[in-house]
Amino acid sequence: MTTTIQQLELTQAVVNSIAKSRDPRFRQLMGSLIVKLHEFIREVDLTPEEWMAAIEFLTATGKTCTDKRQEFILLSDTLGASMQVVMLAQARASAQASGRLPATDATEATVQGPYYWPGAPDRELGSNIAEGVAGEPAYYTGQVTDTEGKPLAGALLDVWSGDGEGVYDMQVEGQTEMLARARFRTDAQGRYAFWSIRPSFYPIPMDGPVGKMIEGMGKHPNRPGHIHFMLSMPGYAGVTTHLFVANSPYLDSDVVFGVRDSLVVDFERHEAGKAPDGRDMDKPWWSARHDFRLAPARH
Ligand code: BEZ
Ligand code: FE
Repeated sequence: MTTTIQQLELTQAVVNSIAKSRDPRFRQLMGSLIVKLHEFIREVDLTPEEWMAAIEFLTATGKTCTDKRQEFILLSDTLGASMQVVMLAQARASAQASGRLPATDATEATVQGPYYWPGAPDRELGSNIAEGVAGEPAYYTGQVTDTEGKPLAGALLDVWSGDGEGVYDMQVEGQTEMLARARFRTDAQGRYAFWSIRPSFYPIPMDGPVGKMIEGMGKHPNRPGHIHFMLSMPGYAGVTTHLFVANSPYLDSDVVFGVRDSLVVDFERHEAGKAPDGRDMDKPWWSARHDFRLAPARH
């Protein structure tokens, strides 16, 4: 495609038209968006029919949103935009706090996803948060420290996952009670321990416009098995992250691009018998250990 002078003039005219925007950051964001959008339209030689299809797609995305479902976030997740924002935010915070990259100190963040349910019950360390939940039992242990390795007592861990078949409580019609969710506080040595299930891979919701897009892209819709953690502690930068099950299918092709190598954890299989906390296990179980590191908050 050749670009005519008039096309470039149009882009410049639109950018010029926002020159009086009072908020300089808003002007920067919109200016860059206008330039890149115009470039995209010219680069792909977009037809009116394709432009209308895009508008219809975005309209359908909006109409699919309810108080329980956010199709725009799913769109952002599946285009890798959410993960770009997460990585940028953590790198920025880390550079401002210490000049170091997160990979070498704080636990790496990943997407929050749509299944966080605020207000999970506070449970004692060592509790089983997956009573009656389908799946193989797993014992999660570890320590929360600062980036120098100092244990953080009283750090809050908000934990959630789907069941052993990859289904979250929120996805089950009529399920009003929380399942496989809890909040824990670390002990005096910064340690945590709880029982849940070993999470399975699962597909993102495919019955909306984003599902059609994924199909059109020739991709599978799955996320590898993972359990979500939201960690916080006064004086420290909180982190929203996952632990991924090593060897889970789709670890190398997460549909939302959330996998980070530092978050992949070996789940060790054990035969029925006594667990380390004295629990009598009548079937095989798994254990996973991971230490989390929180960076000091910026002042
Ligand atoms: C999740 O892990 O819960 C999730 C994240 C992004 C999109 C869909 C689900
Ligand atoms: Fe999830």
